[in-house]
Amino acid sequence: MTAATPSPPMIKAEAVNKYFGDLHVLKDINLEVPSGQVVVVLGPSGSGKSTLCRAINRLEPINSGAIAIDGTPLPAEGKALAALRADVGMVFQQFNLFAHKTIVENVTLAPQKVRKVSSAEARKTAMELLDRVGITDQADKYPAQLSGGQQQRVAIARALAMRPKVMLFDEPTSALDPEMVQEVLDTMTGLAKDGMTMLVVTHEMGFARKAAHRVVFMSDGEIVEDSTPNDFFTNPRSDRAKDFLGKILTH
Ligand SMILES: Nc1ncnc2c1ncn2[C@@H]1O[C@H](COP(=O)(O)OP(=O)(O)OP(=O)(O)O)[C@@H](O)[C@H]1O
Ligand SMILES: [Mg+2]
Repeated sequence: MTAATPSPPMIKAEAVNKYFGDLHVLKDINLEVPSGQVVVVLGPSGSGKSTLCRAINRLEPINSGAIAIDGTPLPAEGKALAALRADVGMVFQQFNLFAHKTIVENVTLAPQKVRKVSSAEARKTAMELLDRVGITDQADKYPAQLSGGQQQRVAIARALAMRPKVMLFDEPTSALDPEMVQEVLDTMTGLAKDGMTMLVVTHEMGFARKAAHRVVFMSDGEIVEDSTPNDFFTNPRSDRAKDFLGKILTH
């Protein structure tokens, strides 16, 4: 009997090392994320969470190791990199919308420029995505006219407009007023339910418990634990994870 060829992991990081000068910020990182899985990355400040996201998107070069998206190794530079990077959507703490462009223009810009989509097609897709994140009525406004939560949902729609295979979120709700956090988390939960592969750095433990398939805990540039949310929260194995959870859960 021959087994079906398994599909490659959507994200694969193998023995990844990254230095900033003498500072070793990613230490032999091995991580595989299968298609459709939601992984929450937790860890103290400075543990390397953002650097890991940026390395996966090649915003940061790595010193050794390999990263592949959907079975294709990330090239170092050039057109192939631009194409592959378009497969990886990224949402940051700061939304970085173009202030002088309307909401719908913010969402149509990259598909037209990078994916060479027609303006009519780009607008149609943008309106569908704005509907998905619940803000079609804001389409012709400018970013400054929207709340922080609405702007972050535009940033998610903008990333989705490139039809990424993977979405990376780096503390997407950390800059928001508390009453706007849930609407962004709900949007992300919807995306997860639709089967998007997601790597999410967040301090929102409710999201980690409910939406994540897996929790990866980083400390000092290393992956120290990699388990189910339930295992991680109820039975952390390392002292570093216990210490981290003690601090955030009593906070
Ligand atoms: N561009 C840079 N140049 C030099 N050092 C950097 C740079 N970016 C990050 N670092 C250092 O690398 C380490 C990892 O930083 P990183 O931003 O990945 O941590 P983090 O886990 O995302 O932290 P936080 O929770 O505060 O966002 C830290 O010691 C940080 O000071
Ligand atoms: Mg960070």
